Amino acid sequence: MTTILDGKKLRDKIFEDLKNKLDKMPVKPTLAVILAGDDPSSRIYVNNKKKCAEKLGINSIVIEYPSDVTEKEIIEKIQELNNDNKITAILVQLPLPKHIDKLKVIDTIAPQKDVDGLTTTNCGKLFAGEKPYVYPCTPKGILLLLDEYNIEIEGKHAVVIGRSNLVGKPVAQMLLNRNATVTMCHSHTKNLADIIKTADIVVSAVGKNVVGEKNIIKSDCVIVDVGIFRDESGKVRGDVENVSPAYLSPVPGGVGPMTIASLMLNTVELLSFA
Ligand code: GUN
Repeated sequence: MTTILDGKKLRDKIFEDLKNKLDKMPVKPTLAVILAGDDPSSRIYVNNKKKCAEKLGINSIVIEYPSDVTEKEIIEKIQELNNDNKITAILVQLPLPKHIDKLKVIDTIAPQKDVDGLTTTNCGKLFAGEKPYVYPCTPKGILLLLDEYNIEIEGKHAVVIGRSNLVGKPVAQMLLNRNATVTMCHSHTKNLADIIKTADIVVSAVGKNVVGEKNIIKSDCVIVDVGIFRDESGKVRGDVENVSPAYLSPVPGGVGPMTIASLMLNTVELLSFA
């Protein structure tokens, strides 16, 4: 029998605690979100973030740019937000339009206001085994979900599929920092199925179906499905289908709600560095 790692339930619990905490705070955090371009999914994500923040009592502003915005305009806006004492957290929604240097833009964010934990300072701290100002939202959400279900990490073989800066790399490092033995897999990995066979924990963050009925998995395996995409028929699907591990995060309702819960937690945590 598979136990579902219920991200919605944990998100609701986190929101309830956060709301109580925020109600008692004399100074509320303010989250600034930069949205550039016309990616429809990004717009939905940003609207959700704003709605969530408002419900909890976090101030938020969204700064929108058309897809032909220049890198200079965004960088200057971030510098302005860095110097604005009222702004305590900054997020640049990804993806950015192709002509913009994503890393340069992200690295303009002051590390103490970097609510995604994606600046080189925060990544560097994470990779050096030091505490970053905050941890990246999706990896943080994944570990909160594993901890909620008392899933042991130390000494386990964790297989991470996908090597993005947003999920794959930081979650691998966070699992390593918790003493897992981590194998990183990606599009050039040979014998992925052989590696999955030996996994105690699988985190799949690819955005297409990579784990399915062809795979043999350990009966006590824990699978975290981070991928979410729509197939040709418009159906929402994850990276993982037709397997019966001991624990599985569903799509939707698993990691997605935990990412937004982590963003709200990070926004509140950053207030202590303001
Ligand atoms: N786009 C998709 N997920 C994320 C995220 O967690 N943070 C940012 N900044 N952009 C994203």
